[in-house]
Amino acid sequence: MRGFLAMVERNFPDEIVRVREPVRRELDITSTVFELERAGRSPIVIFERVEGCEMPVVTNLAGNRRLIAAAMEVEPSALATAFRERCQNYHPVERIDHAPWQEVIIEGDALDLTKLPIPVHFAVDAAPYITAGQICARDPETGVDTTGFHRLMLKGRNRLGVSLHSRRRMYEFHRRAEARGESLSAVVTLGIHPIHYMGSMAYHYPPNVRKYEIIGALFNEPYRVARCGTAELDVPEGAEIVTEGKILNDVREPEGPFSEFTGYASYRSTENVFIAERIYMRRDAIFHSIASGTASDHILISCIAREGEILNSLRRNLPNVIAVHVPTITCGAFMAVIQMRKTAEGQPQQAIMATFGTETYCKCVVVVDEDVEIFNLADVMWAVATRTRADRDLVFVQRAMGAILDPTSDPVDNTLTKVGVDATKPGGVDFAERLTITEEQRARVRHILSVSGVSI
Ligand SMILES: Cc1cc2nc3c(=O)[nH]c(=O)nc-3n(C[C@H](O)[C@H](O)[C@H](O)COP(=O)(O)O)c2cc1C
Repeated sequence: MRGFLAMVERNFPDEIVRVREPVRRELDITSTVFELERAGRSPIVIFERVEGCEMPVVTNLAGNRRLIAAAMEVEPSALATAFRERCQNYHPVERIDHAPWQEVIIEGDALDLTKLPIPVHFAVDAAPYITAGQICARDPETGVDTTGFHRLMLKGRNRLGVSLHSRRRMYEFHRRAEARGESLSAVVTLGIHPIHYMGSMAYHYPPNVRKYEIIGALFNEPYRVARCGTAELDVPEGAEIVTEGKILNDVREPEGPFSEFTGYASYRSTENVFIAERIYMRRDAIFHSIASGTASDHILISCIAREGEILNSLRRNLPNVIAVHVPTITCGAFMAVIQMRKTAEGQPQQAIMATFGTETYCKCVVVVDEDVEIFNLADVMWAVATRTRADRDLVFVQRAMGAILDPTSDPVDNTLTKVGVDATKPGGVDFAERLTITEEQRARVRHILSVSGVSI
């Protein structure tokens, strides 16, 4: 995280805002990000004085596409492709003996999570929430570890509520531990680089691969980690604060509500409990928080990772798929737009099914032709309005697994009906001719406007 902050400070100084005015943990931190977004800005925000705490808080580290692109050393428009291409060149980790987060160790009676500047993000939140906690644990059966974000509700000095609702590896590892009558040893890492954030969102890869190897692939160098605690889990060298502990077996407690990426208060949770046993931190640790709800900080990287994963999956079978767009405004998960150069009827339907098979959260897929600008949702809706015939071009998948947090998914089994929309022109027949204006003609009228003193 510090490397990323230094890069932004050096190359994009206007994209870091320092707030020296004292702020409260309740609401001030995340609502500042929303206020900046309303004004069309998405800088990193560092709060230097958080009431009742010595530690500064940094937020909105990952809310800005330009900064993420700079970290990946590509243009913003090439982010999904860069993720797609790099994420499969797995790099083994480099294990080091000493890391800065080992400077301070807090345990026993001194351990008190309530002393950390954990924000309350929205008025609906049941308690302060750690939103940037990367939880790392090992598969009890194979020993392969994973790392990912899971919201953590502050419940007491050493107690956090946790929801594993994405039901990917961490959920499965905990289920396997519980089946053996064991808790799942885990570490919660705060203060990670946005490329780690991005790599942790990968989900379509073989079970013997470690997420840290994917993160190394995205950095294009081995990820440096150090061993932590009795379970000897790997933690990134650059971490700020590391909490060692376990997710209990056979214990469920109310967790939530929490302000989720859907834009709603979420009352749904797997209701797990994490017990903290030891805290490690840098002497001058910075507390990282992700702005919750529909903030870009919460959604943007998920969009990029999903675009890359869907593209990877589709291209294996449909080389004529050109691009994928997972819009932020549809919660970064629920909708995907596929652009393809259709060469046979039925291909859009195949792309729709493959997308649902790749991305559980996605519940609406729209397939368009190559002349439609998929990053311009107005153009996509024009294609839907003029090229889709409802009796023939809609695909419904009944009772498919959806996101627990989607308010339209079944409250008992979380299934829902997914819809695919084929908005491509019918093949093999003459179809209406799209109106176009040539580049040459556009240049001509721009010139006329310019000499007439009209700026556009
Ligand atoms: C900011 C953020 C917060 C997240 N919070 C949760 C959460 O509370 N619970 C959950 O199960 N998944 C959450 N996710 C999604 C998981 O981190 C994601 O699905 C990850 O790939 C799961 O990794 P795993 O396969 O190791 O379980 C969150 C993602 C982001 C970007």
